[in-house]
Amino acid sequence: MRKYIIAGNWKMNMTASETKKLTEELNSAKKCGQQTVIICPPFTSLATANDLLVGSAIRLGAQNCHFAPKGAFTGEISIPMLQECGCEYVIIGHSERRQFFGENNAFINQKLMALLEGGLSPILCIGETLDERQNGKTKAVLETQLAECLKDVTEAKSIIIAYEPVWAIGTGVSASTEQITETHYFIHSWLEKSFLNVAVPILYGGSVNDNNAGEILSIPHVDGALIGGASLVAEKFASIISTAEKLTDR
Ligand code: 13P
Repeated sequence: MRKYIIAGNWKMNMTASETKKLTEELNSAKKCGQQTVIICPPFTSLATANDLLVGSAIRLGAQNCHFAPKGAFTGEISIPMLQECGCEYVIIGHSERRQFFGENNAFINQKLMALLEGGLSPILCIGETLDERQNGKTKAVLETQLAECLKDVTEAKSIIIAYEPVWAIGTGVSASTEQITETHYFIHSWLEKSFLNVAVPILYGGSVNDNNAGEILSIPHVDGALIGGASLVAEKFASIISTAEKLTDR
């Protein structure tokens, strides 16, 4: 039976009081059913969300972390800090962090290894830019990102991959069904070859909303979605969860 991971990346949105409102709305909006539902609020809202998620099936994730457990890294947040806030998942390698904060595959690999060591699930984002796609480099870029970000991984059990084409993020234009089909198949094959017998879930991200979720989640090797904008509106996020639930029931 097909089950999905529906994750909301709130990015730099939602103060603690706004988080309280949205989390309460999500708690009362929709049962998660068979799906794994994750919200990833900003750091300053994690404690608030965690308190409100007691008894809820919605899981908590963060949007970034540092690989060191503690120390002189001004402005950074460690994995033990996130664990104490109730986080089970951490998004790493998001294209916005690569693009605006200069994160590279080697740095992301350090975070990934530290998360595995700490027992949290990394949600590793990969994806090509428009220029790379137009120049036929998509597979090469993804292959390099996978190989370098997953370097030295022997146990892939808790890893989640999110394929997010950079050009589809926040644009309102998701990748086409054909593009997602081809790319997810490529990523799936790469992972299968590298981690025999371990099924690594692959999420799609990039302008997923309540209107296109059904079509996207029906594509082979799409195991869920990583959602930005539409995860900030309780009805839209709940509607995407319902869509996943309907597909699971089929
Ligand atoms: P949008 O859903 O707003 O396009 O954002 C996708 C994303 O970056 C999720 O990590």
